[in-house]
Amino acid sequence: MDRFRIEGGVPLTGAVEVSGAKNSALPLLAATLLTDEPCVLRGVPALHDVSTMLKILEVLGVEVTREPGGVVRTQVRDPGSHRAPRELVKTMRASICVLGPLVGRRGEAEVSFPGGCVIGPRPVDLHLRGLEALGAEVRVEEGYIRVRAGRGGPDEREVYLGGPFGPTVTGTANVLSAAVLTPGTTVLQAAACEPEIADLARALVAMGARIEGIGSPTLVVEGVEALGGLDHQVIPDRIEAGTLLAAAAATGGDVLVRGADPKVLTAPLDLLARMGTRVERRPEGLRVRGGGGRPRPVDVVTLPYPGFPTDLQAQWMTLLALADGNSFVTEKIYPERFIHIAELQRMGARIRKEGPTAIVSGVERLSGCEVMASDLRASAALVVAGLAAEGTTLVERVYHIDRGYERIETKLEALGARIRREAA
Ligand code: EPU
Repeated sequence: MDRFRIEGGVPLTGAVEVSGAKNSALPLLAATLLTDEPCVLRGVPALHDVSTMLKILEVLGVEVTREPGGVVRTQVRDPGSHRAPRELVKTMRASICVLGPLVGRRGEAEVSFPGGCVIGPRPVDLHLRGLEALGAEVRVEEGYIRVRAGRGGPDEREVYLGGPFGPTVTGTANVLSAAVLTPGTTVLQAAACEPEIADLARALVAMGARIEGIGSPTLVVEGVEALGGLDHQVIPDRIEAGTLLAAAAATGGDVLVRGADPKVLTAPLDLLARMGTRVERRPEGLRVRGGGGRPRPVDVVTLPYPGFPTDLQAQWMTLLALADGNSFVTEKIYPERFIHIAELQRMGARIRKEGPTAIVSGVERLSGCEVMASDLRASAALVVAGLAAEGTTLVERVYHIDRGYERIETKLEALGARIRREAA
């Protein structure tokens, strides 16, 4: 298992390019199951999770070709199978994204029921209820979700996608993907507004789907008989962009993050401004300039888009661990997503957890040590902490970070970071 060795305390400087968004690429790849025509996706990041999705597509009879530069070509060759096996699904929860496309195109799906993970329980009840509202029959048997598309049924239907923690992102992707080939009108209420869902919806429209209200919580879908092929550029990864902004700010650096789109980073940029970090909007991205002393404390509350993303909560906690005062970080999407606290404490951070809130009392400096990556974003927070800390930080189990960040150490090294991958 690889680890990162980071010699901290070097302000990052230079320019870095954001890769394509993981959380766009995964449902987009799954959506290629909706057509028999060739599809091309560009800007697909080279990530472990993407490789897992491609393996699932292959099991489902799709011929997949990967070309350099993040180009993935798909073509359905054998639509006979509709089963996503446990061996693959258990390694990646986002495998659930094939459920909706399979129901929509093949009329049937069998997907291993995904397990929980370290960020807390991750139910799929809203996905299943949504498919039922489309008229499908859903059963959970032998550890598998088995869905059969409904036949006939009313011409119009409404599907409510809201849950106790807001709308579901991949649930919206699933129900939308099934609805585009379901005859009649489907109105999706409380749909997720995340940019990755809008990216998927735009791609579906390019394939011939009829969707109105893209980017809003109400999506109106008129079912069509068939979809055509696709040639689509995946949007830049706003979470990777936010992570790089946090790394630049934490080290007091000066970094141009190319491809960072301010329109989808409103909440993180607002917090950076309130923390006293200067961020300049450039045509090609965002330039962050730290170095003006310790960040000011701010309160963070994670919320569905356009609120502050849960996928940046851990990285912001690292920044606030160095702030000049006390901050409250409240997690409203995954109330248990605080696994990084214990590791940040080992580096000298002063953080106390009270239910879904962490009270972060900023310290002047963090001190490098050996820490354990436990999930994707927590690992990113530890890398940011290591870059800012005094001394050497060893981040163990970096396979977590490889699931969602493309060549992170190469990108950081190019910005002057002293970071090395080692086989531990
Ligand atoms: N929820 C339910 N029932 C459901 C589905 C979700 O109660 O059927 C709850 C969840 O437990 C959670 C909330 O609703 O409290 C939101 O979950 P959501 O379904 O939106 O999460 P997801 O679709 O499984 C995606 C991202 C996550 C990101 C969340 C929230 C992908 C592939 N994954 O997950 O990304 O944290 O939305 O924004 O898009 C990551 O990239 O590190 C990551 C975990």
